[in-house]
Amino acid sequence: MHNIAIDGPAGAGKSTIARLAAEKLGFIYVDTGAMYRAMALYFIRNGISGDNETAVSEACKDINVSIEYKDGEQVVILNGENVNAFIRTEQVSMMTSDISKYKAVRAKLLDIQRNIAAAEDIIMDGRDIGTCVLPYAETKIYLTASVSERARRRYKEQEARGAACDLEELEQDIIKRDRQDMERETSPLKQAEDAVLLDTSDMSIEDAVSAVVKIYQAGKGGSNEGS
Ligand code: DC
Repeated sequence: MHNIAIDGPAGAGKSTIARLAAEKLGFIYVDTGAMYRAMALYFIRNGISGDNETAVSEACKDINVSIEYKDGEQVVILNGENVNAFIRTEQVSMMTSDISKYKAVRAKLLDIQRNIAAAEDIIMDGRDIGTCVLPYAETKIYLTASVSERARRRYKEQEARGAACDLEELEQDIIKRDRQDMERETSPLKQAEDAVLLDTSDMSIEDAVSAVVKIYQAGKGGSNEGS
């Protein structure tokens, strides 16, 4: 099995780029953020506060998260229910950011993610894939872009959706989320020592996808096992 780990900050285009690269390579794309989001949804629905680590940790035993693929699309199953339609709200994003710092939450998803990677050729994206989930991944990429470029992309996305937003505010949100993800104690976002840095600030999506495929091809057949 070949594992490609892609990590990076919010809004760097990881999911779009990883999905397209997976399509090109015939790999399965695994979005780990969606799994954290499903857990967050459970806590919201059950009135469990994201500040209460004890309650969150205790509730983890009642949660079952898995993924399936339907028409090539990843579907997240929370206790038997397809929750894809409910995990992209702002409320869920906030809760996910709060609860993904807890050890019990991360431990719950770690084995699930490792088992998926052991069974298939996958591109997995997240924050700690190259550093923690798949330290022996054959290909590791740290995908980023400048704060201003990430804010600009998010602005365009929102605009296309017809949602009013403020560029300055989006930039501040991104700075705050970066800090939260990078400064947390458990599995903080950081570039793995053996990851290739890919800065997409001045790249189109197609160029970034080609760059990912090239990094994979350059590493394939190389002697980087165990690195
Ligand atoms: O990639 P995303 O925006 O869907 O991620 C949502 C949140 O989940 C984000 O705040 C960080 C967290 N996350 C994480 O801690 N570890 C991962 N492997 C993936 C996501």
